[in-house]
Amino acid sequence: MKISSAEFVMSNSNVAKCPNEPLPEYAFIGRSNVGKSSLINMLMDRKGLAKTSGRPGKTQLINHFKINNNWFLVDLPGYGYARVSKKDKKTFQKYITEYFQKRKQLVCGFVLVDIRHDPQPVDLEFMEWLGMNQVPFAIIFTKADKLKPAVIEKQANAYLKKLTDSVWEEAPPHFTTSSSNRMGREELLEYIEAINQD
Ligand code: GTP
Ligand code: MG
Repeated sequence: MKISSAEFVMSNSNVAKCPNEPLPEYAFIGRSNVGKSSLINMLMDRKGLAKTSGRPGKTQLINHFKINNNWFLVDLPGYGYARVSKKDKKTFQKYITEYFQKRKQLVCGFVLVDIRHDPQPVDLEFMEWLGMNQVPFAIIFTKADKLKPAVIEKQANAYLKKLTDSVWEEAPPHFTTSSSNRMGREELLEYIEAINQD
């Protein structure tokens, strides 16, 4: 898919106030610092579109970006970051869960996990929660540039096996990416394009 336009539309903490256009929407979710905002910038080929930071907890609101004037990408705050105050953390959880439960335009959530890490309870629980709420999702392994090519597939397969050994009958769709070397960009954009054309 060629990206001809990518515009920031709005940030807010209230799902009811998100854009009310009936365009298909894709949301990036995962632990703080996993690389959600960086991946949006890499996919859109726009460096400062979504704000990124080396310090976890950068994205704090629901951010809508309108792409090619006919679909939305959504950057969400991370979950599971201990250093954000308890009160703020609760607010994040509330609008993350509200977003996934109420947003009718959402066609697929992308759950990002750092490919270097073994499955973490918070991520497995979040995927299970999406499943219970019948929210379609795919997994995106991030920061693949940090591993040697031979280890990338091994690590991804071990992660997926953990899923199919537990509650999942089959592994969800999955992608391996790097915002540093642009790995996975075409595959991910093609996946979104195919859903948009359905
Ligand atoms: P929050 O908004 O805090 O939840 O974080 P986020 O998931 O949006 O992460 P963000 O994109 O801000 O990136 C966090 C850090 O990881 C930054 O220092 C990025 O430069 C780095 N990073 C993100 N993606 C990659 C990647 O693919 N490879 C490498 N090496 N670093 C990455
Ligand atoms: Mg972010």
